[in-house]
Amino acid sequence: MTKPIDEGLGHHGDAEVAPGLIDLAVNVRREPMPAWLADPITASLSTLAAYPDATAATAAVAARHRRDPAEVLLTAGAAEAFVLLAQAFRAARRPVVVHPQFTEPEAALRNAGHTVERVLLREQDGFRLDPALVPPEADLVFVGNPTNPTSVLHPAATLAALTRPGRTVVVDEAFSDTTHNPQTYDREPQSLAQRRDLAGLVVLRSLTKTWGLAGLRIGYALAAPAVIERLRQHQPLWAVSTPALAAAAACASERAVAAERAIAAELAGRRRHLTDGLAGVPGVTVAGDPASAFVAVRLAGADKVRLELRERGYAVRRGDTFPGLGADWLRIAVRDTATSDAFLATLSDVLKERL
Ligand SMILES: Cc1ncc(COP(=O)(O)O)c(C=O)c1O
Repeated sequence: MTKPIDEGLGHHGDAEVAPGLIDLAVNVRREPMPAWLADPITASLSTLAAYPDATAATAAVAARHRRDPAEVLLTAGAAEAFVLLAQAFRAARRPVVVHPQFTEPEAALRNAGHTVERVLLREQDGFRLDPALVPPEADLVFVGNPTNPTSVLHPAATLAALTRPGRTVVVDEAFSDTTHNPQTYDREPQSLAQRRDLAGLVVLRSLTKTWGLAGLRIGYALAAPAVIERLRQHQPLWAVSTPALAAAAACASERAVAAERAIAAELAGRRRHLTDGLAGVPGVTVAGDPASAFVAVRLAGADKVRLELRERGYAVRRGDTFPGLGADWLRIAVRDTATSDAFLATLSDVLKERL
C-alpha cells in the first residue's frame, strides 16, 4: 500500500520565491550561460523531430568520470533517479535515509511503498556522519554529499565505510561540483564518482545547479552495469530530451570541468564571506563546516524571522520541513559578496528590532 507523504517533504526552495524578492532560497547558480553550453543546446533545437539518442552524451559522461558507458544512466535531473531507485529496489527490506537531507529521496521511497527509517545526524556532531549509526541490516541507504541543507561534506572514506555486499548505498552528489579544496584544486575533494571498487555504490549527479539548468532537467546515475540496467528498465522511454543530452555532453568536456573547478573556488571565497558575516550577527549559529552553495543557520524564531525577511525583500529557505531541523533553522544560498552584505545588514536589522 502506498503511504501518503508528509506535507513538508514536498516543500522546496522554489516555493519561497516570488516576484520582487531577492532569491536566497533556491540553490541554482544564475549566471549567463557560456557559449560552449548555450550553442549545442540551441543547435539541438534543429533536430527535435527525431527521438532522443543518448549514446554520445552517455559516452561523454562516462569519459568524464573514467567509467564505462554501461555504468552511466542519464536522467531527467537527479530527481528522476530517486524515483527509479525507489522503484527498482522495491524488494529492499530496510531502506534508510540519512537526515537532515534533501527530502525527495524519502518522498520517492515512500511513494513507491517503502517504509523508511531515518538516521538523524545532530548539530552537536557538526551533522557529521558516523557510519555506525546506520543499522547493519540496512540494505538501501541514501546520503547526500555535500548534504543539502547542512552543507556538510562527509569524507569519502566515511561513505565508503557504509558500503558492503548486499547493500546499495546511494550517494547524492548533486552539489559535489560546488566543493573545493585548494590543495586538490583540480578535483572534487570527496567525490566517489570514479570509484568502481565499492560494492553496491550508486552515485547521483546533477547538472542543474552550477549550470543553471533546473528547467532543462539533466543529471545521471553512476553504478555497476547491472544496477544501471535495472534502473533503465524503470525509466520511461526517451526520458531525457535532446537539448538535455546536448547539455550533458557539453558539461562533460574538459573545458566544462575546468570551469566548474574555477566556479567552486570562487564560491568558497563567497561562502567564507557569508559565514564570516553571519558569525558577527548575534544569536545566529552556522551549522557544521559548510562546503557547498548554501549554509544552514540556527536562530531562535527563524520561522518568524523568515517572514520578516520576506517583508524586506529576501526569500530564504525555511528549515522546519527538513527532518532533524526545525522552526529555528533557515538555509541561505551563497551569492556574490554584495548581495550577502546587503542581506546580512537586513538580517541584523530584523534581529535588532525583535529584541
Ligand atoms: C541535494 C539535492 N539532490 C538532488 C536534487 C535534484 O536535482 P535535479 O534538479 O538534478 O533533479 C536537488 C534539488 O534541489 C538537491 O538539492
